[in-house]
Amino acid sequence: MAHQIIAIDGFASTGKSTLSKRLAAYLGYRYIDTGYMYRAISYYAMTNGLVKHNKVDEQMLISQMTSLQFEWKEDSRGVLHIAINGLIQGEELRTNDVSNLVSEIASIPEVRSHLLTQQRNLAKVQSVVMDGRDIGTVVFPDANHKFFLNADAEIRAQRRFDEMQAKGIPASFEEVLKNVIERDKRDSERKIAPLKKADDAIEINTSNLNVDEVFDILCGYVRE
Ligand code: DC
Repeated sequence: MAHQIIAIDGFASTGKSTLSKRLAAYLGYRYIDTGYMYRAISYYAMTNGLVKHNKVDEQMLISQMTSLQFEWKEDSRGVLHIAINGLIQGEELRTNDVSNLVSEIASIPEVRSHLLTQQRNLAKVQSVVMDGRDIGTVVFPDANHKFFLNADAEIRAQRRFDEMQAKGIPASFEEVLKNVIERDKRDSERKIAPLKKADDAIEINTSNLNVDEVFDILCGYVRE
């Protein structure tokens, strides 16, 4: 059987990564979190002097893009972590500083085209569940299954806030809500590969559903 591709797109903090990870484990596919790739580049920019007074030095970043080596490394529990130039990235990619910068980084055409190639290459070697914003529309318009997740902004912000609290990442609820709303707006309005539902994607509103319920819905479609 040819490699299968399941695309899970949607707004920030709709549970995409939790569900994609779980679906991939259930199906024996590889899970790819493309948001992590944009976050990793943002973190790289932040920690390598490419952001000054909240402004990204785009030309400098672009000139360094091709030499950035991405690798996925599996830990002893089978969890994949992204590494840039050999350095494994972890929870630092989820901080508010990175969340506040990532939409700007993700709107740079050269960053997107660099990651697009990498994302397509990852699916050449095995079946994948890939989550992001443009997977069903741009990266894999012919994916075998496409889902688009949505939920009320307050509910999404509360989920992200709870998750950050549990991991000890400092944040206030208001800050998280503001970031979620601004990021959605920016991601939806950008010119290249904006966040939007593919015409043939199945939309699921997760506002009143728990993870198990959404997982059952996804499995129902995938098994069909
Ligand atoms: O899934 P996430 O919240 O970790 O994604 C972080 C940001 O990365 C998101 O605000 C927009 C960008 N992104 C994107 O533009 N395209 C993707 N396929 C995935 C993420």
